[in-house]
Amino acid sequence: MSSIFQDKKKLRQQILKKRKALSPEWLNENSGLIHSNLKSLAALKKTKIIHTYVDWQNEVKTQSLISELLETGKRIVVPMVDKSTQQLQHFEIKSLSELKPGAFGIMEPKKNLKTSVGIEALEVIIVPGVAFDLSGHRLGYGGGYYDAFLKQTLALKIAIGFEFQIVEKIPTRAEDEKIDILVTEKQIYDF
Ligand SMILES: Nc1ncnc2c1ncn2[C@@H]1O[C@H](COP(=O)(O)OP(=O)(O)OP(=O)(O)O)[C@@H](O)[C@H]1O
Ligand SMILES: [Mg+2]
Repeated sequence: MSSIFQDKKKLRQQILKKRKALSPEWLNENSGLIHSNLKSLAALKKTKIIHTYVDWQNEVKTQSLISELLETGKRIVVPMVDKSTQQLQHFEIKSLSELKPGAFGIMEPKKNLKTSVGIEALEVIIVPGVAFDLSGHRLGYGGGYYDAFLKQTLALKIAIGFEFQIVEKIPTRAEDEKIDILVTEKQIYDF
C-alpha cells in the first residue's frame, strides 16, 4: 500500500474518532451555525437547484436544511450509493418523507419515488468530507465516490464541515477533486 493511502487512512481515523465523540447538542448547534453561513452565500440564494448529501453518523446535519430549502422553493437533489456500479446516482426529492435508510444505512429515496436527475442540471453541490485543508483539498471515506462524481460537473462545490476537521495538509493524488468553498461554524473559506 502506498504511503499516501496510509497517510489518508491515519488522518481519516483521527478525525472520525473526534467526530464520534460529539454530543447531539453540539452537533445540532454547530450544524445550525453552518446552515446560517451557507444560506448567506450569494450562490446559494441565486440557485434554484441544490444537490446535497443526507447526513450520516456525525456528519454536519443536513435534514433541517433540506426542509428549509424546500420550503423556500429550491429544488433538492440527493445522492444514492449504487454499490453495483460503485457510483453515485442522483434523485430529486420533494420532502424528507421520501427518504429511507439504504446502502451503509445512509438515507436515500424510496424505490417508487425515484426521480432521476442528470448531473448536467446541477448548479450547486453541498459536499461532505472527513477532513479539509485550506488549499481546497478534501478527504472522504476512501471510496472515491465523490471524486468520481465531482469530476463530471462544473457546478459550484461547497463543502460543509466543522472547524476541527481542518488540517494543515491533506495528502492528495491527481484523482482527488478540489472544492471551491468550505463553510464551517466559524467561517466561510473561498478558495
Ligand atoms: N489503500 C488503497 N489502495 C488502493 N486504492 C485505494 C486505497 N484506498 C482507496 N483507494 C481507491 O482510491 C480511490 C479514491 O480514494 P480516496 O482516498 O481519494 O477517496 P476519498 O476522496 O476519501 O473518497 P470520496 O471521494 O468517496 O469521498 C478509490 O477508487 C478507492 O477505491
Ligand atoms: Mg479522494
